[in-house]
Amino acid sequence: MEFIAMFLIVIVSFVHGVRTTDLPTPVDGLSWTFYKESCPNLESIVKSTIEPVLEQDITQAPGLLRLLFHDCFVQGCDASIMLNGTSSEPSEQEAIPNLTLRAQAFEIINEIKEAVEDKCSGVVSCADILALATSYAVFVSGGPEFLVPLGRRDSLSFANQTVTVNSLPSSTSNVTVLMTLFAEKGFDNFTDLVALSGGHTFGVGHCASFVGRLYPTQDPALNSRFAEELYLTCSTVATINTTDLDIRTPNLFDNMHYVDLQNGEGLFTSDQDLYKDTRTRHIVNNFAQNQSSFFHYFALSMLKMVQLDVLTGSQGEIRRNCAVRNTDTSIVDIPVRSYSNLIA
Ligand SMILES: *[C@@H]1O[C@H](CO)[C@@H](O)[C@H](O)[C@H]1NC(C)=O
Ligand SMILES: *[C@@H]1O[C@H](CO)[C@@H](O)[C@H](O)[C@H]1NC(C)=O
Ligand SMILES: *[C@@H]1O[C@H](CO)[C@@H](O)[C@H](O)[C@H]1NC(C)=O
Ligand SMILES: *[C@@H]1O[C@H](CO)[C@@H](O)[C@H](O)[C@H]1NC(C)=O
Ligand SMILES: *[C@@H]1O[C@H](CO)[C@@H](O)[C@H](O)[C@H]1NC(C)=O
Ligand SMILES: *[C@@H]1O[C@H](CO)[C@@H](O)[C@H](O)[C@H]1NC(C)=O
Ligand SMILES: *[C@@H]1O[C@H](CO)[C@@H](O)[C@H](O)[C@H]1NC(C)=O
Repeated sequence: MEFIAMFLIVIVSFVHGVRTTDLPTPVDGLSWTFYKESCPNLESIVKSTIEPVLEQDITQAPGLLRLLFHDCFVQGCDASIMLNGTSSEPSEQEAIPNLTLRAQAFEIINEIKEAVEDKCSGVVSCADILALATSYAVFVSGGPEFLVPLGRRDSLSFANQTVTVNSLPSSTSNVTVLMTLFAEKGFDNFTDLVALSGGHTFGVGHCASFVGRLYPTQDPALNSRFAEELYLTCSTVATINTTDLDIRTPNLFDNMHYVDLQNGEGLFTSDQDLYKDTRTRHIVNNFAQNQSSFFHYFALSMLKMVQLDVLTGSQGEIRRNCAVRNTDTSIVDIPVRSYSNLIA
């Protein structure tokens, strides 16, 4: 009997200390133990590569969360956001409103990818690496390490500019518009919307994303003292500058973003409206009061988000370089002789 019990312990798998058998069922094709045989140390490779980066500059964490969000909302979590475009076919990156993605976030993922390729060549997707790295970055910033089932594959294509812009929530939208967009992505209630907007508890916003609240007239929802500071940051409608999204704890992943909203100190209309709108205000109040509640729902909503429209099985590919499709580089790599064999 004791022998059997010991044997059972050995075969049980854990993800973040939770038995895989106790975890929710992932969408078809993803799994909690996907790289168990093919890259058993994946998580530790990701963590040890990103740790020194975050130690040096914790503001890279919000840049990663933003990159993951943009990847998953446009065409699913398939690393399509990471593909470089060409002059005739501009990439998703170039369509992002006002180019607010951080170049370093791409570099960090590419660096982790290289470290992973070193140990397990050709088996781990860029899409999985982005999701795993972001979960860890949120955790290092003080937040919950949300669960990431694995097995995503990388896309062979990216969305055009129209689709990209239409898939992303705008900083100027109200709750009705935001919820319509979230519902299209399969989020079924306001809790997801309010929880995911909690990503604005760290990172910065660009003047272009909120100057509409200052000029030509001041948005009455803005706290007047806060507005005075914003006029200093964006002294004209065309000023290029940034300011913290969360004035209380700018680099910490906590629930202070919701306290900002209660005080009229949300930077974006899309955030402040969550407090103004009676359909979402009680959720803002709950999260402002209870950080565990915010973390609980944020982790649940992220679990949904990281599984949006994933490519699995034999779909897509495992990119060797996150910025380019494998076929794009193999043209250069293939020696002339085998190339002529191929076309013969
Ligand atoms: C992709 O684009 C970035 C930014 O323009 C550039 O730095 C990088 O070298 C490109 N990567 C590849 C593989 O072409
Ligand atoms: C963008 O892609 C969508 C969906 O694939 C397509 O319907 C649309 O015509 C494309 N638009 C442009 C400008 O290429
Ligand atoms: C939300 O914004 C849309 C588009 O700007 C507008 O048509 C709608 O009236 C707004 N809804 C509310 C409740 O303010
Ligand atoms: C919204 O969805 C979450 C799961 O993501 C669930 O826990 C919560 O009860 C739902 N809320 C409502 C009002 O349906
Ligand atoms: C982008 O910038 C323009 C003006 O520079 C502004 O009108 C628009 O709201 C901004 N869009 C977003 C999504 O921030
Ligand atoms: C940018 O904002 C800071 C305050 O946040 C301000 O001191 C600085 O003058 C602004 N820069 C420009 C170019 O307006
Ligand atoms: C805070 O939220 C957690 C998680 O949802 C819940 O278990 C706890 O009872 C809440 N605490 C208070 C004081 O409401």
